Amino acid sequence: MTDTLHSDLLKLAQEAARRAGELLRDGRPADLAVAATKSSPIDVVTEMDIAAEKLITDLISGHRPDDGFLGEEGASTQGTSGVRWVIDPLDGTVNYLYGLPTWAVSIAAEQAGETVVGVVAAPMRGETYHAIRGEGAWATGAWEGERRLACRPAPPLDQALVSTGFNYVSKVRTHQAEVARKLIPLLRDIRRSGSAAVDLCDVAAGRLDGYYERGLHAWDLAAGDLIAREAGALTGGRPGERPTRDLTVAATPGVFEPLQRHLEDLGAWHD
Ligand code: IPD
Ligand code: CA
Ligand code: CA
Ligand code: CA
Repeated sequence: MTDTLHSDLLKLAQEAARRAGELLRDGRPADLAVAATKSSPIDVVTEMDIAAEKLITDLISGHRPDDGFLGEEGASTQGTSGVRWVIDPLDGTVNYLYGLPTWAVSIAAEQAGETVVGVVAAPMRGETYHAIRGEGAWATGAWEGERRLACRPAPPLDQALVSTGFNYVSKVRTHQAEVARKLIPLLRDIRRSGSAAVDLCDVAAGRLDGYYERGLHAWDLAAGDLIAREAGALTGGRPGERPTRDLTVAATPGVFEPLQRHLEDLGAWHD
């Protein structure tokens, strides 16, 4: 049975993701520039990342003033209601900076440390993905209409299409490239979309067989992880762990276990 709180949180997350997505899509300055850098010179933030996070936190706290926030661009409050919002206002900033279409707004709501609602809006695809814990994952959009998400039936690993991403820190990305070099002969192919949230939703939608990445933060994966799990995918980190900064793996059952095992054997989680 639908929990009323969870459906209220979903509606609010959908509204915030839609409004932030419209701001990012329609308000992108033609002369958009890098406003600052973070962990390295290629880890960039723009005025639009910051504006989108402000829109989302203002909207949500206007409705639910006692909730906590964790946002990539600095939102960080405890709250007193037991609900915390985990927000990546613009996942895929480098794509967005260059005018590439793969970027998303990712909003999750947690209760007692568990994600209960996830919304990922990908405005340039005209699609939004959402899930409530225990109730499946759904997509709404212009291309394939409204549909329940289900990950693909597993192919053998050597027929699997797997996406990954690269961290912004030089030493880490060099090691990630080395892992990908060793993995690619074992797979059909590797993709690099530039948005972890979109990758996780593509696993959910059956558009990828799997995805892995080292170095993700909670805001990159909170919503997409729930959406992937609710679509029947398996998600984890190193064997026996939930996704961590060391490693995130998401894949259709049958691809997950061999992919995770190869990543462990290749030491994907350390230099
Ligand atoms: C990044 C994207 C990218 C992934 C990076 C993330 P950002 O997020 O999700 O695909 O490879 O690890 O940091 O910085 O664009 O929000
Ligand atoms: Ca960023
Ligand atoms: Ca991100
Ligand atoms: Ca971001």
